[in-house]
Amino acid sequence: MKVGYLQTLILGIESSCDETAAAVVAGGRHIQSSVVASQLDTHVKYGGVVPELASREHLRAIVAVVRQALENSSVDFPSLNAIAVTAGPGLVGSLLVGVTYAKALCFAQKIPLIAVNHVEGHIHSVLLENPEIQFPALALVVSGGHTHLFEVKAMGHYRLLGKTRDDAAGEAYDKVAKLLGFGYPGGPIIDKLAPYGNPRAVKFTLAKMKGNELDFSFSGLKTAVLRWTEQNDIKAETAHRRALKNPNLADLRAATSQTTLDLLASFQQTVIDELLRHTTLAADQMGAESIIVAGGVACNAGLRAQAKRTGFAYCFPSPQLSTDNAAMIAAAAYSKFLRKDFAGFDLKAQASLMLA
Ligand code: KG4
Ligand code: ZN
Repeated sequence: MKVGYLQTLILGIESSCDETAAAVVAGGRHIQSSVVASQLDTHVKYGGVVPELASREHLRAIVAVVRQALENSSVDFPSLNAIAVTAGPGLVGSLLVGVTYAKALCFAQKIPLIAVNHVEGHIHSVLLENPEIQFPALALVVSGGHTHLFEVKAMGHYRLLGKTRDDAAGEAYDKVAKLLGFGYPGGPIIDKLAPYGNPRAVKFTLAKMKGNELDFSFSGLKTAVLRWTEQNDIKAETAHRRALKNPNLADLRAATSQTTLDLLASFQQTVIDELLRHTTLAADQMGAESIIVAGGVACNAGLRAQAKRTGFAYCFPSPQLSTDNAAMIAAAAYSKFLRKDFAGFDLKAQASLMLA
């Protein structure tokens, strides 16, 4: 065992979407290993995650991924104090693979099972690296499935302040990229191409929300991009991009007109403006001491740069902890372990599990 001091060792397992992940975390903070097997190659040709294929790939990968996480950390099964697993939200067939395997391991090893909410996991990806964070904190969880704002009064105490009423921000990135022939996932590609365009070239006006002013809506923006493609003749370049085999950034840039680069920059700027506007408003309303941004879209370079300029105390996870991983699941489980908040073997995978 690598850890030279006596600390709680938790094995985390994550399989909520298209990444099979396992990690060993000591004392809720020290990552001993983190293994992520991506299914990108399986889904890329469909332009998004295909649920049936995702569960099949999880089944294929899970045993090897867990074994690798243990090997990399030089931790064996008998040294583990507990196993934590993502119980939801996510794709039910994918969640089931992780939940069932975690239950079987806990039964065989006679150690406690801990159920973790995937969204809480994302929040812990930041807490894990910033233990000095000040509460109350505001958490913006922004990924392919979520655009949620939570008040975090203290570790483990969440209140939902606002959420998307339709598409998540990452979903909008993925749909726009698919529409324009940029492939999947769209976020990283658009993020890398946006600096080559003019972010103020295309003006998108987002509908004003009735009701909770902290709720988001991104489906109108996606439709506005669709309208833009109907008014600008980019059919040939879109078809050309679609036909590229494993393009790198330079290939995609060469295959993209300045007009389209301007569109991408304007789309990204509109998303960033929306995220930061809501976050600033919520932070002011609740008197946040710090702001946590987590989830795949937290990788976005434009968002990170512009958040820093707002003057608020923003905390982002390192890029490898921004997207789905199991270290955040093991980290989120630590306080539950201390409270003996264990799950039974009747634990169910819950596609729409709520955090607050
Ligand atoms: O957290 P995550 O790995 O999985 C979910 O729980 O959804 O997030 C994946 C999402 C995808 O929609 C992807 O396009 C987006 O995060 N994403 C980004 C960036 N990197 C990943 N969006 C914007 N900019 C990025 N750099
Ligand atoms: Zn996620």
